Amino acid sequence: MIPDANRQLLERELAVDDPWRLDSSSFEQERYAQMLRMSRCNGDVASALEVGCAAGAFTEMLAPLCERLTVVDVMPQAIERARRRTTKWSHITWVACDIQRFATTEQFELIVVAEVLYYLKDIVEMHAAIRNLVRMLAPNGALIFGSARDAACQRWGHAAGAETVIALFTESLSQVERLHCHTNSVNEDCLIVRFRKPGHSSEQPNVGH
Ligand SMILES: C[S@@+](CC[C@H](N)C(=O)[O-])C[C@H]1O[C@@H](n2cnc3c(N)ncnc32)[C@H](O)[C@@H]1O
Repeated sequence: MIPDANRQLLERELAVDDPWRLDSSSFEQERYAQMLRMSRCNGDVASALEVGCAAGAFTEMLAPLCERLTVVDVMPQAIERARRRTTKWSHITWVACDIQRFATTEQFELIVVAEVLYYLKDIVEMHAAIRNLVRMLAPNGALIFGSARDAACQRWGHAAGAETVIALFTESLSQVERLHCHTNSVNEDCLIVRFRKPGHSSEQPNVGH
């Protein structure tokens, strides 16, 4: 569950024209360019999951790469804004749900989860969400994770950020690529990692970098 304070924060941000300046900030555009490049690494994708769409800025970039795209966000207003922005596509399924509770029998070839998991209450909940995401990722599938770093997240009052979550994902997935995106601003400093799920039970996850 996301704590009340974080839900209020999300409500306030999602009520403005350009939440988190995701459309207008050059840092965010560079972050999206890197996430998109990593999402394209295995070519076109039959089925993808995006977790946490905000107003749909990245959804709009991801949709053309996928035959089917499922978008999950805990805030119905985020789903509504992103849906309005992407009406030209009919292959997107929208789900208003906490990622810890989202369940499907579908196995996704690609999962993108960026700037989302630090809204959860604590590391136990982050771990539960990660286990859920790993379960839904197809063998050999790619998971793109992005987050502000531990220090920034803790400064913002969250339990943990990138380094902690990357260590948790690395228990089950292999790191293929890791990137540091930052500017001179302390609030513009994130890590983006492309993970791969081992294809066979005999394959062990390893730390790539
Ligand atoms: C800062 S925005 C990130 C948007 C986009 N992923 C990006 O990287 O720019 C965070 C989004 O995650 C959603 N979110 C936060 N906690 C969530 C949860 N537990 N389950 C699903 N979505 C969540 C919020 O509602 C919001 O739309």
